[in-house]
Amino acid sequence: MNPRTDRPTGVIDRYRNLLPVTEATPVITLGEGSTPLIESRKLGALVGKGCRVFLKFEGANPTGSFKDRGMTLAVSLAAQRGAKSLICASTGNTSASAAAYAARASMRCAVLLPSGKIAAGKIAQAFIYGATVIAIDGNFDTCLNVVRELQQESTVAVVNSINPDRLEGQKTAAFEIVDELGDAPAIHILPVGNAGNITAYWKGYQEYRKLNRTSRTPHMLGFQAAGAAPIFFDRVVASPETAASAIRIGNPASWGLAKAAITESGGAIDIVTDDQIFAAQSWLAANEGVFAEPASAASVAGFIKCADPARRSASCPLTQLPEESNVVLTLTGHGLKDVAAVLDRSPAPLKAEANKESVLRLLS
Ligand code: F0G
Repeated sequence: MNPRTDRPTGVIDRYRNLLPVTEATPVITLGEGSTPLIESRKLGALVGKGCRVFLKFEGANPTGSFKDRGMTLAVSLAAQRGAKSLICASTGNTSASAAAYAARASMRCAVLLPSGKIAAGKIAQAFIYGATVIAIDGNFDTCLNVVRELQQESTVAVVNSINPDRLEGQKTAAFEIVDELGDAPAIHILPVGNAGNITAYWKGYQEYRKLNRTSRTPHMLGFQAAGAAPIFFDRVVASPETAASAIRIGNPASWGLAKAAITESGGAIDIVTDDQIFAAQSWLAANEGVFAEPASAASVAGFIKCADPARRSASCPLTQLPEESNVVLTLTGHGLKDVAAVLDRSPAPLKAEANKESVLRLLS
């Protein structure tokens, strides 16, 4: 606990009893978790029936994405096991988080990134936190394959979500949502890339159900970008393409676990186009004041798609949403990570002379 505010100093502190740590675990934390759950009345109005829609804004984590929840656990346990260096493949957020927590733990960190496909803010994070940044001529899946090879041959700790400690940390987001709403939502919506997060949320909700801290588990509804949708199409996508670079993944590591989460929860996997993603990102910022990165906006794009009876698939859980249900959408990362995605589609600023009349003319 923070001695002055009584606020937990991170997810290990907040949920210690539900995580695989002991008193001997050195807690490497940046105060992650306890992120805002923001109600969107405007999204709620799209489904009506007294339903409420909440945005779990994971961009408020210390490095600007949900990855910090899993990273505090993975790095703390790696430190406990004596690791001196970390490695990961990434579309940008995992590498930013790994680099930061490695710095905090005085460990070395190497990150393998698909060359030319990482948002500038995320690369800047890897550099400034002191990681060794290695660009690979290939996509995320290629990078992860190299990491898997390195895992077999060396003593570095892999902190991708193939490391189960990552998912343990990430499940705390589900705990927080139930703790705040008093029960699990009817539906939980999130973007799907490497498929670790949907797996982790499902684990968290199930654990809380077993502990009777929630009366139900939600239908898990995942959205992939249309050009990078292996789970939706049920086949590996050799050359995934989407402007939402964080979820540009063609062969997710947690594919099977994600499918299990979807089936067991009575959920679904669906797709949204890049145009729908960008429209949702802009809508969210301009209507709710919440700036999420493009991959995160897939949640909102998906919700908007499914709220429209003409566009949703028959299997969409939103078709049977009971009255006065809660729906939660995870916004996985902060919009500031990828400003080019916004500036590329924004007009030039209006120009005025440095006097009142000139400005008023533009405002009228
Ligand atoms: N949203 C953002 C902003 C992400 O960075 C990621 C994954 C996802 C959604 C998808 O989550 O992989 O658990 O299904 N980013 C990883 C990375 C792949 O390397 O940063 P997932």
